[in-house]
Amino acid sequence: MLKNKLIEELENYFAEDKERINHALRVTCFAEELIDIFKEKHPKKDINEQVIIYSAVLHDIGIKNAELKYDSSAGHYQEIEGPPVAREIMESLNVDFEMMDEIAEIIAHHHTPGKVSSNNFKLLYDADWLVNLPEVYNLKSKNKVEKEKLIEKVFLCEIGKELARKEFLANN
Ligand SMILES: [Fe+2]
Repeated sequence: MLKNKLIEELENYFAEDKERINHALRVTCFAEELIDIFKEKHPKKDINEQVIIYSAVLHDIGIKNAELKYDSSAGHYQEIEGPPVAREIMESLNVDFEMMDEIAEIIAHHHTPGKVSSNNFKLLYDADWLVNLPEVYNLKSKNKVEKEKLIEKVFLCEIGKELARKEFLANN
């Protein structure tokens, strides 16, 4: 499957930076979980699993050049630097053009929701937050009500919110 080749490319690209590789793999896992839930809950709605999974593998690929060029891993720079690198990798693996455009667009906006409104985008966005939420919002310091509010605010899809509640509110 192309996913595995993309993961190989990701590992080559980030090399010693295991943290970035692990992040992408964890986001990909959550993306796959969300895809399964989405298909079960909305069998008639259209999503493109490959677009979501490939976007998940490559979504933060811009971080390396952002740090090299601007000495910053800020989301804005990642969004600029990610798409060209992602395209180069996808071109080398002969991903079709239409799919490549959509993935590049998702990567270009994955820190700024609202501009791309597809379900493909929303599932990738929520998968990323399922990994990032504890650290970005120091979840350990929050009580249950605060966590609930945060989940409501951050996640775009109902299934993203549900999975977040399961991950972060259970046993609390
Ligand atoms: Fe990410």
